[in-house]
Amino acid sequence: MAKLDVVVLGEPILRQKAHKVLDFDGKLHQLLDDMLETMLDEPGVGLAAPQVDVGQRVILVRLPDDAASVEEYGEQAGVLYEVINPEIVKTSKEMVDGVEGCLSIPGFAGRVERHVGVSVRGQDRHGKPIRIKAQDWLARVFQHEIDHVNGVLYIDRAGEVWQITEQPPEVAEPQGRIETVAVSPGEK
Ligand code: CO
Repeated sequence: MAKLDVVVLGEPILRQKAHKVLDFDGKLHQLLDDMLETMLDEPGVGLAAPQVDVGQRVILVRLPDDAASVEEYGEQAGVLYEVINPEIVKTSKEMVDGVEGCLSIPGFAGRVERHVGVSVRGQDRHGKPIRIKAQDWLARVFQHEIDHVNGVLYIDRAGEVWQITEQPPEVAEPQGRIETVAVSPGEK
């Protein structure tokens, strides 16, 4: 496995609709393994292929499995979901506000309204159809990651976005950039 570079806001690939995966081959498996290493190293609870500069419909989701997370998420803690060509096929009517961040938008967080529950359909790394029912935080992470393969970022949906840490020098964009992107419908 190899750790991949995560691209940040401003890279066009984050705004493009990713391609459907047709080949469930060794190259895909390598991508999935590298994405896992990258996600665990960052660390993050989800990662989409466009974030590592690969325009394919591939996402990973994994809630942490430390003691506190096991208590909070039960059996979902530490389960790795690899979903190829993911689609949300059902959503709860009920919505909930929550705070999100994104590895591709370092130093910021935002408040986003999401469905409390979603059903996700897709394929595993061998092309076999899978379906996942997710609730609460797991459902939120799936919605965030599936947005990524459609070129949508949480800041597009956020009611408010704020800075949480000093911005790393490599993404030294003014905060106004975030606001601009958030209100620009042309970019979707
Ligand atoms: Co993200």
